[in-house]
Amino acid sequence: MAGVVIVGNGMAGATVAATLRTKGYEGPIVLIGDEPHVPYQRPPLSKAQLLQDGDPQLVRPEAFWADKDIELVAGVRVEAIDRAAHEVRLADGRALAYEHLVLATGARNRELPGAESALGLRTVEDSRALRARLGAGRRLVVVGGGFIGLEVAAAAHTLGTDVTVVEALDRVMSRVVSPEMSDFFEGLHAEAGVKILTGRRVESIEEGAVTLDGDQRLEADVVVVGVGVVPNVELAAAAGLDVADGIVVDERLLTSDPAISAVGDCAHYPCAITGRSQRLESIQNATDHARAVATRIAGEGEPYAAVPWFWSDQLGRKLQIAGVAADGAESVLRGDPGDGGFSIFRFADGALVAVESVDAMADHLAARKLLSNGASTSVTPQQVADPSVSLKELAAAVA
Ligand code: NAI
Repeated sequence: MAGVVIVGNGMAGATVAATLRTKGYEGPIVLIGDEPHVPYQRPPLSKAQLLQDGDPQLVRPEAFWADKDIELVAGVRVEAIDRAAHEVRLADGRALAYEHLVLATGARNRELPGAESALGLRTVEDSRALRARLGAGRRLVVVGGGFIGLEVAAAAHTLGTDVTVVEALDRVMSRVVSPEMSDFFEGLHAEAGVKILTGRRVESIEEGAVTLDGDQRLEADVVVVGVGVVPNVELAAAAGLDVADGIVVDERLLTSDPAISAVGDCAHYPCAITGRSQRLESIQNATDHARAVATRIAGEGEPYAAVPWFWSDQLGRKLQIAGVAADGAESVLRGDPGDGGFSIFRFADGALVAVESVDAMADHLAARKLLSNGASTSVTPQQVADPSVSLKELAAAVA
């Protein structure tokens, strides 16, 4: 038996397997992952799952995998790829042959030296352990003001926890949003009573306290570290595949070995929309990569050209981002942040590159269309700033 072997049972790997069947692939499919679970969704772990404990939300109902004749190998690591033999070797001693191999190995949390007593958040077990320690009368210090840090802060605050976020840079979520959007979310958290300290360095983390530069001591019943991720490239690197910041793939998401693809958080790919070679950490990227690779293996397929998009839920507000902006992009406001939904349109060298929306679903959907239609230079800052100009019509006009 050869068929398709997929390494990694997160959203990317699971979506490759499921889509192969939707697209009519009839060969054997094996989905291998080191987490001892049927594939589940990670986004709720820092949102709904913290607010309301319960079973993880599954990527597909449990019976789906057997129904579709997809073999799940859960709780087992892949130790090595033998490219010459077209085989992967598993930690339990088995070897599995593949015709095509898909690497969906994802990323792991970046560790902070000396933070062994702190919690991280990646798995359903992490989310449960954290939830058990939140609530009224507890003090939480979150190190890192990115997606994880702010979503955890928002959920913990909602559960009555006293929350302080420590961010090393001078603004939160700087990796993904404009300075104006960072300001908005810092204000939203401050208004709710979440303390955010930016531009501060953590000197040490012990049981019960976090010490910052200048010797400021923050008492903490629980500390969460969310300081970014590192792509899991070791398996690919050991097999001699090209790796950079991620496993390097081409516009069809093929690695330097044509029998091996890589998808999701671990894949470093040439983005047709941004024109850059990049790695993206998002559910959209995982599922769109996965569908593209499954479609290609099943016999159709085109170069990958999906618009990147992201979302985050914090304190009752929904942030949605389409596209990717680099530092220094110009920000143009549409709508009023003080009055419901609004968006920040980001332009670089006269071209629209990204749109950040808060509670403005129509703007977000139009932005995804505009960016996918290659409208970047036919839309002007003046047009998007004018609420009487219909974005939907603009998007339709450049289709
Ligand atoms: P992140 O990269 O979004 O944010 C990390 C933050 O930590 C940055 O603001 C960074 O400046 C800060 N930082 C780094 N070192 C620090 C230090 N020593 N002290 C204080 N701050 C420091 O990564 P994050 O939040 O850990 O998320 C992990 C992964 O999970 C990412 O891939 C993220 O995209 C994903 N995720 C996505 C969500 C979404 O799309 N809504 C929600 C939650 C997680």
